Amino acid sequence: MKKYNVAVIGAGVVGIEMLRVLKERNFPVQDLRVFARSSREIDVDGQKYAVEAVSPEGFKGIDIALFAGTEGEKGAAVTFAPEAIKRGAVVIDNGADFRMDPKVPLVVPEVNAADVRKHKGIIANPNCSTIQMVVALWPIHKKAGIKKIIVTTLQASSGAGKAAVEQLKEETVIISSRGFTSVHVNVENRAMPQQLGFNVFPHIGGFSECDYTSEEWKLVHETHKIMHDKKIKISATTIRVPVRTGHSESVYIETAKPITADAARKLLSRAAGIVVIDDPAKSLYPMPKDVEGRDEVFVGRIRQDCFEKKGLWLWVVADNLRKGAATNAVQIAECLVK
Ligand SMILES: NC(=O)c1ccc[n+]([C@@H]2O[C@H](COP(=O)([O-])OP(=O)(O)OC[C@H]3O[C@@H](n4cnc5c(N)ncnc54)[C@H](OP(=O)(O)O)[C@@H]3O)[C@@H](O)[C@H]2O)c1
Repeated sequence: MKKYNVAVIGAGVVGIEMLRVLKERNFPVQDLRVFARSSREIDVDGQKYAVEAVSPEGFKGIDIALFAGTEGEKGAAVTFAPEAIKRGAVVIDNGADFRMDPKVPLVVPEVNAADVRKHKGIIANPNCSTIQMVVALWPIHKKAGIKKIIVTTLQASSGAGKAAVEQLKEETVIISSRGFTSVHVNVENRAMPQQLGFNVFPHIGGFSECDYTSEEWKLVHETHKIMHDKKIKISATTIRVPVRTGHSESVYIETAKPITADAARKLLSRAAGIVVIDDPAKSLYPMPKDVEGRDEVFVGRIRQDCFEKKGLWLWVVADNLRKGAATNAVQIAECLVK
């Protein structure tokens, strides 16, 4: 079997998960290099990796570059993806910089794996909350045609990177150690816009058009692009919750053709990458604490709307660092080398 020289750029929460996923899925790696802003050695589950300071020359000989660095003008992908491509690598980027570029495929393999073949050097990995939603909705869309989606996300701290996880930990320790006498803490230089320990807030990304946040718009635009259907009406509210890892979503859909909750349950039980846990009478439904480290998307509470015949509710949970980022990126790499 042919083997590939692979680079992982970023050694934060997603980059570290990528190293785990590459190993677990036996990706055919010849040589693996890890880059971040500064050089150091890291230990992932007892295995040591040398992290090198990223530079254009570092991409010489790399076949596949998995980017998990920061976004934006001076971010890792904008700065170094062109350098990697120039030296012959195919880039798979986890950030938002290239996702909506019409020349860049945006791929969730369970939905639009064929789009990988259209790449011109870069393939984008969607936002974590989009990935788990489209995996859960795609089988229903194919069967009954989804016309409308209303989604509320409950997003974990690790979705905002390692600094946000540290913030949640620090605030939780401070409040608990005071014996819950007050739930307010003052932490300097917070990674997130609000206190997260013992709190929730409806503010992920910056506020923009229609008073939606950028994270809410990602759910709209990325879903349209991945599903190749811009007609679906999508409204989103994204909420940060004090969970370490694992995003949850309450999703309401309206379909063109009626589909019962039972039929949807059966359809999703047979679909690739989905695990249905749906026995509320026995208190069985997906929860973030149970999905950490898992690669599938978990669906439960599938039920008919009481007032709208073609309305269905679903509760969708997934590990944002695995299926929401690293696993999806490595699956794209698998499609690429197939
Ligand atoms: N967290 C999630 O659930 C999630 C899900 C989907 C997509 N994403 C996306 O994945 C990317 C990584 O997120 P994360 O949560 O892993 O962030 P993170 O924990 O903050 O880690 C960021 C990593 O990127 C490195 N980095 C930053 N700027 C860089 C540059 N200019 N050149 C090279 N490396 C650079 C950092 O290096 P140092 O360690 O040396 O500082 C760090 O290792 C982001 O684009 C994010 O939007 C995240």
